[in-house]
Amino acid sequence: MSPMKTSSATGADPSFKGKLTIHVDRPGATIHRNIYGQFAEHLGRCVYEGIWVGEDSSIPNVRGIRSDVVAALKRLNVPVLRWPGGCFADEYHWREGIGPRNQRPRRINTHWGGVIETNHFGTHEFFDLCEQIGAEAYICGNVGSGTPREMMEWVEYITSDSDSTLANLRRENGREKPWKLAYFGVGNESWGCGGNMRPEYYADNFRRYRTFVKNYSGNDVYAIACGSNGEDYNWTEALMSVAGAKMNGLSLHWYTLPTDVWAAKGSATDFREEQWHSTLRQTLRMEELIAGHSRIMDKHDPQKLVGMIVDEWGTWYDAEAGENPGFLYQQNTLRDAIVAGINLNIFHQHCDRVAMTNIAQMVNVLQAMILTDKGKMIVTPTFEVFEMYKAHQGARLIPADVSATAYKLGDQAIPSLSASASLDAAGKIHVSIVNLDPNQSADVSMRIKGCKGRNVTGRVLTADAMDARNTFEQPSAVKAENFSGFEMVDEGMSLHLPGKSVVVLEIQ
Ligand code: AHR
Repeated sequence: MSPMKTSSATGADPSFKGKLTIHVDRPGATIHRNIYGQFAEHLGRCVYEGIWVGEDSSIPNVRGIRSDVVAALKRLNVPVLRWPGGCFADEYHWREGIGPRNQRPRRINTHWGGVIETNHFGTHEFFDLCEQIGAEAYICGNVGSGTPREMMEWVEYITSDSDSTLANLRRENGREKPWKLAYFGVGNESWGCGGNMRPEYYADNFRRYRTFVKNYSGNDVYAIACGSNGEDYNWTEALMSVAGAKMNGLSLHWYTLPTDVWAAKGSATDFREEQWHSTLRQTLRMEELIAGHSRIMDKHDPQKLVGMIVDEWGTWYDAEAGENPGFLYQQNTLRDAIVAGINLNIFHQHCDRVAMTNIAQMVNVLQAMILTDKGKMIVTPTFEVFEMYKAHQGARLIPADVSATAYKLGDQAIPSLSASASLDAAGKIHVSIVNLDPNQSADVSMRIKGCKGRNVTGRVLTADAMDARNTFEQPSAVKAENFSGFEMVDEGMSLHLPGKSVVVLEIQ
């Protein structure tokens, strides 16, 4: 047992009180490990530089994939990786990304900066990356500008162990055995960049294209339909009623902007408490969106056979000065770490329906885990949260009731605490708690029902400033540390959580 170090006890900082009860005696659904999924698009410096540097690069690499990034990602136990987009997916033609690299066509990446896409990172390179980091593959197919035949042949090329021409082409290109293709998306944002379709039209297209996504050689593809943009509940209703029986998963996209205005989202690093509060307010809407779409899915699918796949989420700020605005590069601060912790807690609470999520994106784009500058690499505060939370992967959700005074700014109020808990196969309990208030620490009385565990350890992520971040000059400015702000009491613990912090406790 560690002595509790509280500055509030000495009156040194303002604090508020909260209560948390976890019901270890009532374990619920499993938190699917895919809730910790990632997304890598051919966008800006995500794939090229962030992952792929080529075999001849002076940056250490294995078959062209940079080793520092792979080593960092392995620390996260990345369960699944979505690729190649995003909007890019509906312009991508897989045959252009196989065979000798110097013969692959050069295309214009029309969505993202108009730069040349060399196609040097294609199907073989993607599966090599998945194998290097230990992730399952989630490929998003091209509905917008591709054909059902193209989609069908891609799946055959990847997964068939037969003597077919396509399977043999894969062998000629260096891969004898088929890969496992676990997840396949039938189009991306078909309501927007993926074809500007109406829901009924896309629902019929989903039925058509999905028919040709086949299972070869024992591979069993989980087919994901393009879902709604934020609160477009009409899309979910149309998809579930017309095509619900033909899908395994239905996606949902929701990005966190500090404002509602796309043209003036706000800076990733230059913000005040007003933007801190509004960003957290916006991100908390994930709860209402998941609940709203779940209600519609429940109506059509009461057995919860169709998974909700939140395959794009995260913060989206104004492009950084000096960067190509089409590259969506942004820095990542403690604010992003708080956003990550809140969303992961929400996903846990809905794990009976949410089967996968994919934060956008893995390297150098939007709310990234990793930032690179040519040969240099740093991990972000968001990475730290994913590492702290990874113990929840595959564990059973434990009900967690949390209450505290609201965090108010002006006439706006949001919860000051967010929490979730789980029980893993080894009997260890993990509790993750976020203190959203940047100014006040939280004195939380935690009751543990149905467990006598008394060995407690913890990790905490916090910093003095809301905009604290890791840079190439100071790569460890925001880093998880051991947490000692707890004391065992009857039936539970007293916790002292610093302001603007994420804490994960392990109890056994
Ligand atoms: O993640 C960046 C973009 O956001 C994706 O390409 C698109 O699907 C979404 O609009």
